[in-house]
Amino acid sequence: MELKTRDGLARICKFKNVETPALMPVVNPNLIIIPPEEMQSKFNVEALITNSYIIWKNRKLRERALKEGLHRMLNFSGLIMTDSGTFQQHVYGDVEVNYLDIVNFQREIGTDIGTILDVFTEPYHEREEVKRAIEITAERGKESVKIKGDMLLAGVLQGSIYDDLRRYSARLMERIGFDYFAVGGVVPLMENYRYGDVVRAIINAKKIIDPSKPVHLFGAGHPMFFPLAVLLGIDFFDSAAYVKYARDDRLLFPDGTRHLKDIKYPPFFSPVFDRHDIDEIKKMNKRERERVLAEHNLYMSLEEIKRIKEAIHEGRIWEYAEIRAREHPRLLEAYREILKHRRWLEKYENISKKSAFFYTGAESMKRSIVYRLKKRLKNIPDRPVVVEMKRPWTANLESIPAVTVKTPFGNVPIELEDIYPVAQSEFPWEETENVPDGVKKITREEFDIRKIKMIADYQFGPGAGAALFSGAVKIVKSKNTGKIRNVIVDGEHVASLRAEDGFFSLRIAGARRLHSHFEFKKMRVVVSDDSAEFNRVGKNVFAKFVLDADPDLRPGDEVLIVDKQDNLVAVGKTLMQREEMLHFSKGMCVKVREGIESSKP
Ligand code: GUN
Repeated sequence: MELKTRDGLARICKFKNVETPALMPVVNPNLIIIPPEEMQSKFNVEALITNSYIIWKNRKLRERALKEGLHRMLNFSGLIMTDSGTFQQHVYGDVEVNYLDIVNFQREIGTDIGTILDVFTEPYHEREEVKRAIEITAERGKESVKIKGDMLLAGVLQGSIYDDLRRYSARLMERIGFDYFAVGGVVPLMENYRYGDVVRAIINAKKIIDPSKPVHLFGAGHPMFFPLAVLLGIDFFDSAAYVKYARDDRLLFPDGTRHLKDIKYPPFFSPVFDRHDIDEIKKMNKRERERVLAEHNLYMSLEEIKRIKEAIHEGRIWEYAEIRAREHPRLLEAYREILKHRRWLEKYENISKKSAFFYTGAESMKRSIVYRLKKRLKNIPDRPVVVEMKRPWTANLESIPAVTVKTPFGNVPIELEDIYPVAQSEFPWEETENVPDGVKKITREEFDIRKIKMIADYQFGPGAGAALFSGAVKIVKSKNTGKIRNVIVDGEHVASLRAEDGFFSLRIAGARRLHSHFEFKKMRVVVSDDSAEFNRVGKNVFAKFVLDADPDLRPGDEVLIVDKQDNLVAVGKTLMQREEMLHFSKGMCVKVREGIESSKP
């Protein structure tokens, strides 16, 4: 996996030739409704999933797959994943295939990603039965990895509805050396709208497994659930829903499912409606209708993935998931379950986002970004006078009240007027102005100094402001907006204040000051000597060269790049937090702004 863009745990990555999050349509080799080559050419499907057990069971298919290989047999040049038959065996009860034979078979037919034969766990299973299933699955996994050859192999995590057993499964499987993980045993939960339980299964998996590995949610067919799953870091989905629903004359929409007979005005665009109007579809014969509805359903499912990706790109996945969660009370319940984990999710949350914080309801105030704001404000000295003000709080004021301002996020010192999400937020109520006469006021000059110090303390930790800005401080403001742009200390450009999110970008002179102020490992990413050589001249840091990092770093943070001896080599901005930096072996993890040998005056 290579991380490209992220919004918290939600991520756009490259895995082989597939951009994730991705939906793998399920192709039943016995019953192809939309031919795989058409999925590729017409729907831009990059990966699909089929079932090796179904192929293996049917002599004709088996022989063809062995002779031609799976890609030729299905006429699909993209990524092919195969499932192992666990689900079929569990549902239909047959146990005719050995767990090693099915892995061998997947390798022989040229699957890109094979799956072990795991033991399915049901929500009604007793703990002991679930534990046993997990252990057998892990034992099978160990043996299966040995014979996988060049094929990538997916390890399936089970655990039913037991949080500790989900983590137990993840811990056992984590050690085995899989290339890919799948969260299994959730189909019965999905079918019964137990989304809160599915959310917990994903969270317990993600808390344990290597963040650089792809994570698949097995059988999460309905697009309605995709946003919540992606918010938690799911990279792959598979879905047979597009055919299953088509068979029953049902149409998938991002906001739920509708029966064909009930639709008069199709609520969303679909290319299918371009070709046929809804009454025409109603009159089609069964086969024709099934094909057209399957196309619609596939289109809608893929469309949802696109919307999610755009939301990640815009930095509004939380808002998007929150809005989508309102489409079913059980989804909202699941979203509330996610919010219980906001402290853990905060570790992955970007420092700021391209989009403003949009309030959609009471739940918004429990997002990780709000948790962070409140936590960091606890370390910032408060002022007794609390007032109400309209934003921008201090624009055009020559003397500034030394106050704390009441905001929907809580009380915020006036100096932090520009930081994300305080300034970049929208609420469905009017702001009011209520500054009592006689409050102590300070000059703009004094305020500016307090402001830069307080932002630095908030952004980098207590004491950073004093460390960065002691000496002869010169503040350079924008001619257009009058806002602070650059801070020069003793003739050195130390930092620039970003207009977008109100935080600092450090220059190497600023990095030097923080480097001598903060003890090792605070704010540091430690790189190997091979990397340091390049970072010194301004080249970016790649994750595979990272030896260690400050656990408090968050994506989007300013960071000091140091060698093993803690010599400062560069300054930049992170894309990852510590565990990710240590696990990813591909891609950039710090975008370097300046190296000690590339610094400009
Ligand atoms: N398909 C849907 N659920 C599962 C599961 O738990 N395991 C496997 N292997 N496939 C599935």
